[in-house]
Amino acid sequence: MASSFNKNCLDDKIALITGGGSGICYEIANTFLKYGATVYILSRNKEKLLRAEMELNKGLSSQRCFSIPADVRKFDQINDAVDIILKKSGKLDILINGAAGNFLCPISQLSYNAFKTVMEIDAHGTFIVSQICFNKWFENNGGVIIHISMTLHYTGTMLQLHAGAAKAAIDAMTKHMAVEFGPYNVRVNGIAPGPIEGTVGLSRLGGFDESYLDKMREMIPLRRMGSAEDVANTALFLCISEAKYITGSTIVVDGGHWLTSSSSILNISKI
Ligand code: HXC
Repeated sequence: MASSFNKNCLDDKIALITGGGSGICYEIANTFLKYGATVYILSRNKEKLLRAEMELNKGLSSQRCFSIPADVRKFDQINDAVDIILKKSGKLDILINGAAGNFLCPISQLSYNAFKTVMEIDAHGTFIVSQICFNKWFENNGGVIIHISMTLHYTGTMLQLHAGAAKAAIDAMTKHMAVEFGPYNVRVNGIAPGPIEGTVGLSRLGGFDESYLDKMREMIPLRRMGSAEDVANTALFLCISEAKYITGSTIVVDGGHWLTSSSSILNISKI
């Protein structure tokens, strides 16, 4: 199907995408490149990141995807990463906070370190990267920030206390940053994906059991799993000028899944 977006809509835009080495954020990087942006993908795993960089640059007339290995929990590493981007590209227009960690675990067995680790990657990471980008660039030049959230904390999903607590904090940051950064022409929004086919999130949530996934599909009002493209197109929309009056919102991209799901949907037999 032909795209409704103008193929040059991100020309000359510079984007930093944390967690861009795989999954949904890889597809966001791919989409942004397709529409003209230069993209920096950042995550901890150097090898995975380099493979992603190579793959994403395939077919482009010149290199527009660059990888930066760094840990969103480490202030100094992110400080250096943003310096590298500003030195190389001279500006930064878009930040996607997508780096996340997750697993299924009952509250009774969740170690303090396990809870802390997910809080640090998801919530602290989102704070650290956003604050550094704001102080170094967005404050004087404006920009767009998008946080990748989820819907599992809307219903208090089982085995997801750590991720739910972290994503709830992120949803709060979307609003707080929208309020404080708005006067600096920085728009801050979130995207809450539902079950997205082919992602680590879905495989951890439902396993590869087809009958379980079929049941899940039947519960989704739009009767299909989402694709990473569904999320990437939403991110693209939030970045272009047609979305210029949207800030402080978290857009749910889940085919209506959370409206009809219950907190016990997880495939507990898979733990
Ligand atoms: C219980 C676990 C665990 C598990 C790790 N831990 N995996 N506890 N069940 N399956 C505990 C460890 O035992 C340790 O606690 C603590 O967490 C830190 O683990 P490390 O491996 O040292 O941490 P680290 O190397 O930083 O790894 C982070 C991670 C990892 C989150 C644990 O899984 C990760 O990086 N995953 C890759 C990214 C990912 O998961 N993406 C999916 C996001 S999808 P102790 O007490 O032993 O020291 C998403 C959408 C929702 O978020 C999807 C729903 C499922």
